[in-house]
Amino acid sequence: MNEEKLKASLTKYFGETTGKVTQGTTEDEINRLYATRSRTYDQEHSAARTAYFKPLAECLHNALKDVFQDKPNDQIKIIDAGAGTGLIGVELKKLGYTDLCALDISNEMLDEAKKKEIYTEFICTSLNGQPVPQIKSEQFDGLICGGALITGRIESSAFVEMIRMVRTDGVLCFNIMKEELVEHYQDMMTELEKAGKWICLSKETLPFYAAEDLPNECWGFVYKVLKN
Ligand SMILES: C[S@@+](CC[C@H](N)C(=O)[O-])C[C@H]1O[C@@H](n2cnc3c(N)ncnc32)[C@H](O)[C@@H]1O
Repeated sequence: MNEEKLKASLTKYFGETTGKVTQGTTEDEINRLYATRSRTYDQEHSAARTAYFKPLAECLHNALKDVFQDKPNDQIKIIDAGAGTGLIGVELKKLGYTDLCALDISNEMLDEAKKKEIYTEFICTSLNGQPVPQIKSEQFDGLICGGALITGRIESSAFVEMIRMVRTDGVLCFNIMKEELVEHYQDMMTELEKAGKWICLSKETLPFYAAEDLPNECWGFVYKVLKN
């Protein structure tokens, strides 16, 4: 899908401000954008027929089962980075995960997530390459990040901090728009792999949106932490 068509579709489903987000959009502007959208976010995604929530949660689940074979799901600690209103948390709960932490830059989005009664912890902060002091190194067994590694939101510089939060041998699972991987994320992902920080366990095409005027596929990744 070309850039112009994509912007028009994003505007149609998620509003004019969303269609205009660029790498230069500030954190204050992102905060205001999601504060405004927080109450309507779930309806917007139902109209767009967003399709990655369940498959992405299942990717994390399958990887966790391989790594922590004997650990019951309710004892596995997961952080949902850029959790928003908790639509991924809903899927993780269905799979039996209950030790869930939601991190998001927007208080208003987290307020909506709280209403779903899925997460046990909430951290309102930006993931942007700076250390998050509320989170200890290796605090989590797994990390999931759905729909938040996109231009102007969570940038590739945040991968270092995302890895720090997860224990050695723990797993990270995230999706990235096919249109954005090479330009914004791939170099850092490769650099961290070359530095021995993580290893890619899988890269696969996942469903993204079912609405025909939005991208129907995205990349889904699973990485394992090597050294922390
Ligand atoms: C498209 S939504 C995805 C929400 C949820 N994961 C989902 O799949 O529905 C992007 C989320 O990332 C959050 N966000 C944007 N930039 C962020 C940052 N730098 N740090 C943490 N959260 C951020 C937004 O507030 C928003 O809730």
